[in-house]
Amino acid sequence: MVSGRKGTEAWWLPRAVVTLRVRIFEKVNGDRVVTLPNSTHGPDVFERVYAHPAANGRSRGAGLSDLFWYWLAPGPEVHQEHLELGERYEDVAATTRRILAGNSADLTAAATRAVAGALDALPDRRISLVRLRDLVMPAWAAFCYELVFREPCPPQARNLITAHADDVITALKCTGLRHPRRRARLTAYLRDRVVAGHVPHRLPASLSLPEQVHYLQGTFFNTAVVQLSEATAHVLLALARHPDVQQRLFEKPEDDRYLAQVLDETMRLYPLFGIAHRITTDEIPLDGTTVLPAGSVVCFSYPDYHATGYERPDEFDPDRWANLVAKDVHHIPYGVAANRPCPAWRLSPLVLRAAVREVLGRFRLDSTASHTRPIPHRAPCLLIPRGPLPGPRRLGALRSFVRLRDGVEDVTRGVRQLVLGTLMVLHARSLRPAARHFDDQRSGRCPVPHREGGNG
Ligand code: HEM
Repeated sequence: MVSGRKGTEAWWLPRAVVTLRVRIFEKVNGDRVVTLPNSTHGPDVFERVYAHPAANGRSRGAGLSDLFWYWLAPGPEVHQEHLELGERYEDVAATTRRILAGNSADLTAAATRAVAGALDALPDRRISLVRLRDLVMPAWAAFCYELVFREPCPPQARNLITAHADDVITALKCTGLRHPRRRARLTAYLRDRVVAGHVPHRLPASLSLPEQVHYLQGTFFNTAVVQLSEATAHVLLALARHPDVQQRLFEKPEDDRYLAQVLDETMRLYPLFGIAHRITTDEIPLDGTTVLPAGSVVCFSYPDYHATGYERPDEFDPDRWANLVAKDVHHIPYGVAANRPCPAWRLSPLVLRAAVREVLGRFRLDSTASHTRPIPHRAPCLLIPRGPLPGPRRLGALRSFVRLRDGVEDVTRGVRQLVLGTLMVLHARSLRPAARHFDDQRSGRCPVPHREGGNG
């Protein structure tokens, strides 16, 4: 089964933007940067270096950190992903584990409820044209709210969380600029709730009150919401583009094994992380003659690693997993166990399965949109209610319209991404949020969260 990259006329443009983005990341980091795997150092070196104890620096010393901190603000300095190892990191990581803990049945039920809530808003007798990421983001906002507050999510909170998460991911994909004031509205809301003692979990004692608020905002109302939304959009778009796989899942919704295969294949071909980076704190041998010096920035390319060791790696083929075990092949959708893997590695597949089942139970999916890893188009898709079908001519006309619209959008968006991306790289370089934070730390000044007004 071919993954059909030529979904639109300008199928090459999203790829060109992705390639350019990787180049920009390398450039921003300066000279001491290596991307693995590469033509000299293959997947075995990738694995060894990623798991090496000296590949443990997270943000200090990489130009790329300024860019990520800029995109993730407010509070990137206390985001678990960007904290350096140490007491604070341990405290934060333990809190995340506590909040994510829950039994499978409860988590599945909560995810099903949240997704059902989003689908209830759609007409059940007419075809809907949606962007899958936009459709599911409010659902995951409500789900993550329940994880943190252990109560149903009120609409006001759901809207604040969705607006915040959407703003972060839109800026990260360079399809829009940042809106710090939009994000600040969620900060103010969370602050009131934390002060009022409404969070039933023990929050990291090593963080101040504003830092605790930023931690919740960054980890649960940005990363968790964004990652679950992106993953859901990917798997549903893959199903929309592969009707045979979709039909098999629909006919056997209880077939957990095949659904897991579909998720594995989706995450293999469209890993949510394009690149994860580390800064080395000691020398790491690359081979018999080359050594990575301390202070190097290593970019681990998930798509390149996931493309090695498979037959026909560009094809979307869930059946390949019938005889494969993830730990025996090049498959790390949630990172590597030895080096800060995703704390939601157990929860995510569970709730994604619930989401897919809920959607497929109600709708047939159809899409001609291009499918690239960053899905900057937010996954346009037709949702066709189960039951009596609309006339084939109406469906055909809708498909033609959507194909044309997506093709035009791919071209204009590509140009916009280049312009907005350049503006944000320059802005981040002038603000230097990460570099300034570590400068303050070094000089003994108490690092203060930098303030940014207006639109990013
Ligand atoms: C399908 C969904 C998800 C995927 C594929 C995913 C993937 C990943 C990957 C690959 C990493 C490691 C990156 C690296 O090595 O730098 C990571 C880290 C992380 N993820 Fe996820 N993630 C998902 C959902 C979530 C959710 C729901 C949360 C909720 C809190 C979460 C929170 C984090 C955090 C805090 C880290 C940093 C871990 C650390 O440095 O200690 N992720 N994720």
